[in-house]
Amino acid sequence: MKLIGPFKQIVTLANLPLRGKLSDDQLEIIENGGILINSENKIEAVDNFEKLKSENPQLTDSPTLPLSDSIALPAFVDSHTHICFGGNRANDFAMRNAGKTYLEIAESGGGIWSSVQHTRNASEEELLKTTLERINFLISLGITTIEIKSGYGLDLENELKMLRVIKKAQTLTKATLVPTCLSAHLKPRDFEGTSKEFLDYILEHILPKVKEENLANRIDIFIEKSAFQPDESKEFLLKAKSLGFDITVHADQFTPGSSRIAVEVGAKSADHLEATTDEDLQFLAQSETVATALPGASLGLGEKFTPARKILDHNGILAIASDWNPGSAPMGNLITQASILATFEKLSTAEVLAGITFRSAFALGLEDRGKLEKGMKGDFVTFKTDNFQNVLYQQGSLKPEHIFINGEKIEI
Ligand code: NIG
Ligand code: FE
Repeated sequence: MKLIGPFKQIVTLANLPLRGKLSDDQLEIIENGGILINSENKIEAVDNFEKLKSENPQLTDSPTLPLSDSIALPAFVDSHTHICFGGNRANDFAMRNAGKTYLEIAESGGGIWSSVQHTRNASEEELLKTTLERINFLISLGITTIEIKSGYGLDLENELKMLRVIKKAQTLTKATLVPTCLSAHLKPRDFEGTSKEFLDYILEHILPKVKEENLANRIDIFIEKSAFQPDESKEFLLKAKSLGFDITVHADQFTPGSSRIAVEVGAKSADHLEATTDEDLQFLAQSETVATALPGASLGLGEKFTPARKILDHNGILAIASDWNPGSAPMGNLITQASILATFEKLSTAEVLAGITFRSAFALGLEDRGKLEKGMKGDFVTFKTDNFQNVLYQQGSLKPEHIFINGEKIEI
């Protein structure tokens, strides 16, 4: 047993429901709190520090870290990223801001296809190095669980290369990485056949290999006019599901209709939702499928935000993720993005914190993290500040002081 603290405040998020709106007076805040870690590196108890100390006389060690001017929160979970990629699309960003259209950007060598070419040309070593740099940046923000998608390889060799890089990265980081196969990101320009035939190619050639090498047990698809169409996508998702894959969907980013498919196939999450109709939002909100807002994509593209307020008011499960990718969401700072989403969508602090902790963990099928309570994984983040509200108030400019993974402080 190990007791960590005393903290000025611990915000546990314990007892908060999985779905629906939250007010800040529902937050459990423990003043002068301590976190007791057991021999399995899980949380044994979170309570007043002195109380835990007197109840556990076997604890002889005095606290080694000065934490009495710090607050603790559950570590954050980024449930949607594309951080394994080659190249850079700063020119896309500049062109878009100068008023160029999607087509003009693609014609001048930008767009997703440009990232595919750079990713295909990168060696595994290069991809591993840059992916780990991005993982370490996310960890420095207090994010200890990170979903990472393939989707810039778009053929057997390169999709496997990306997923192998993510698997290798897992051996080199203490953060939890959750790989997702996004071979259905776009039909690559060099594929001779229809988009339906490309989906069949994924089912026949890529997914069996992904299974065989145990590279991912989740798959994703971009359902959109410019990518894959609703009917072929639904068929693909059902087949992938029967192969044993969990499902997540890039849904309703520019045109509505696909979040409904996500719900119908029992997806873990439907992400984006900037264009979802009111009717479809209600349908989604009544399901077990998590609705994931990606404010980083709205900020990167200058498009409207996901209607997060409505999702919560309809009693949905709202997660917030960064979508960090080289094209639409180049920032990568989930805390900044979630804070900004809160100001535009009028979200309470509790709703934002839930959206980047246990609700986003649920979207990944991980129910052992995101709250500081008995039995949970010992992942938490501390900030040197006297009030937890300052974390979102400072919109990402207040950096974590320490990051703990499995009850151990890690170097950042
Ligand atoms: O989540 N919407 C499709 N895919 C990504 C963008 C990827 C890219 O532009 O490279 C997204 O926003
Ligand atoms: Fe995305």
